[in-house]
Amino acid sequence: MKAHILVLPGDGIGPEVTAAAVEVLQCVAQRFGHEFQFDEQLIGGAAIDATGTPLPDATLHAAQHADAVLLGAVGGPKWSDPNAKVRPEQGLLAIRKALGLYSNLRPVKPHAATLGASPIKPHLLQGVDVMVVRELTGGIYFGEKTRSATDASDLCRYSVVEIERVVRHAATLARSRSGKLTSVDKANVLETSRLWRDVTSRVVREEFPDVTLEHQLVDSMAMHLLARPREYDVIVTENMFGDILTDEASMLAGSLGLLPSASLGDGKVGIYEPIHGSAPDIAGKGIANPYATILSAALLLRHSLGLEAEAQCVETSVAEALEAGVFTADLATQGHAVSTHTATAAVLERQQGCQVLAL
Ligand code: NAD
Ligand code: IPM
Ligand code: MN
Repeated sequence: MKAHILVLPGDGIGPEVTAAAVEVLQCVAQRFGHEFQFDEQLIGGAAIDATGTPLPDATLHAAQHADAVLLGAVGGPKWSDPNAKVRPEQGLLAIRKALGLYSNLRPVKPHAATLGASPIKPHLLQGVDVMVVRELTGGIYFGEKTRSATDASDLCRYSVVEIERVVRHAATLARSRSGKLTSVDKANVLETSRLWRDVTSRVVREEFPDVTLEHQLVDSMAMHLLARPREYDVIVTENMFGDILTDEASMLAGSLGLLPSASLGDGKVGIYEPIHGSAPDIAGKGIANPYATILSAALLLRHSLGLEAEAQCVETSVAEALEAGVFTADLATQGHAVSTHTATAAVLERQQGCQVLAL
């Protein structure tokens, strides 16, 4: 197949990890006989430096005309002055909103080889397979913001339609997995959460009677997620709770550098990015873990291009590299830590072993 993939490297380790994922996608194209055309545009701090805005028109235009977008990360100390007029993160929020990507899938499935990298006891991690569905274009991230010399506010607002569509997506996923859906909110305090709970209950009752729904308050959820992670399957939650819970959940897998994501909407294009940020503390050193971005490329193959065998080839190659102990510094609790380049090469090498069914 032919596909146009837009690459948005962004800032910090973004260019390092997207370069790794592009190599993997090029290898997929070559092995499976596809033609992937890569285009690159600016976003985030790099775009502010070059054009004054974190999401230039050319970038949004290219994204709207691509089959899929692979993104690294945005932000960093250079652009983090609390009084700055523009911020890199605004570019990321704006592109998610403009493309209508309201549903952000964040799978968390600890690998046997990385149990030692997790601060959680290994017996609690066996069999854990969680899919967090994070609402991505609403809530406190997108409400009106005000700031004066004496106060500041961020408005948190959700509409029924915004809740319905992401819950339908999550319930559909739950149906294809174990049939269990956990909705996370703060309905004991927040009005938006009470609406969230009402709408979620109705949608599941009326449209997904075969799905078992439970509601959980976000504070105790943060605890349960670490204490009994095996009991969860699909978790659906609002924008900010999903952001925080998934960084927490990365500790089940052992590192933030392992978790991929897919941001999807009703249109054809999706954004695929690791859940981690630009990691300014390690940027430019060639030591970032590329697996989260490579696994995001696998989600791109699956969700935007419909290439399931190719997606599995990439996922299996990463799993085999982990089994072989090919760990970057974030995972190498003892023993030798490899560079981004070596970890990527380990995945590329294992891709050669994939069975090519599509040729
Ligand atoms: P971060 O995710 O960038 O880093 C947190 C810690 O995890 C750091 O110690 C970092 O070195 C480590 N880490 C992250 N990814 C790693 C990888 N692939 N390999 C090895 N180690 C990795 O979070 P932060 O430090 O709070 O934020 C830094 C900047 O990134 C901020 O400007 C923030 O806004 C931005 N950010 C962007 C995104 C995004 O673009 N999607 C996501 C989160 C944070
Ligand atoms: C993420 C990031 C972003 C978010 C920031 C950088 C805007 O933390 O993708 O998880 O909060 O959505
Ligand atoms: Mn985040």
